[in-house]
Amino acid sequence: MKLIIINGPNLNLLGKREPNVYGNDSFEEYFETLQIKYPEVNLTYYQSNIEGELIDKLHEVGFDHNGIILNAAAYTHTSVGIGDAIKAIETPVIEVHISNVHAREEFRHQSYIAPNAKGIIIGLGLKGYELALEALLS
Ligand code: DQA
Repeated sequence: MKLIIINGPNLNLLGKREPNVYGNDSFEEYFETLQIKYPEVNLTYYQSNIEGELIDKLHEVGFDHNGIILNAAAYTHTSVGIGDAIKAIETPVIEVHISNVHAREEFRHQSYIAPNAKGIIIGLGLKGYELALEALLS
């Protein structure tokens, strides 16, 4: 089972960035706990602040992985290119957001990922990544 978590812009600052919204944990630490909890899964992690790099990574993994857990962060709300990339690949994508984007500014209510995602997990903190992983395993 080959799964990848892909995080978009500013998520490299988790733990330091707006902790009242995104919590105090760094993603690297959380990712290690996931790897320990799911040793049977070939689980990798990729983060980029650059839209084209995220698209390149989706193309790279999108034909041989069993699932992609994607938090495209701010690009969720703006990127036709990432939306098209998800349409172009074969691997199912689960969209995750740490915060409840629907309880925030209106511009965060729009998603170019959602129409092409297998499912969406929003507002449950970092736990959302694990829930997405469980969904891809089931
Ligand atoms: C986010 C929500 C986005 O609106 C925001 O731009 C992010 C993080 C989340 O995980 O809650 O960077 O995707």
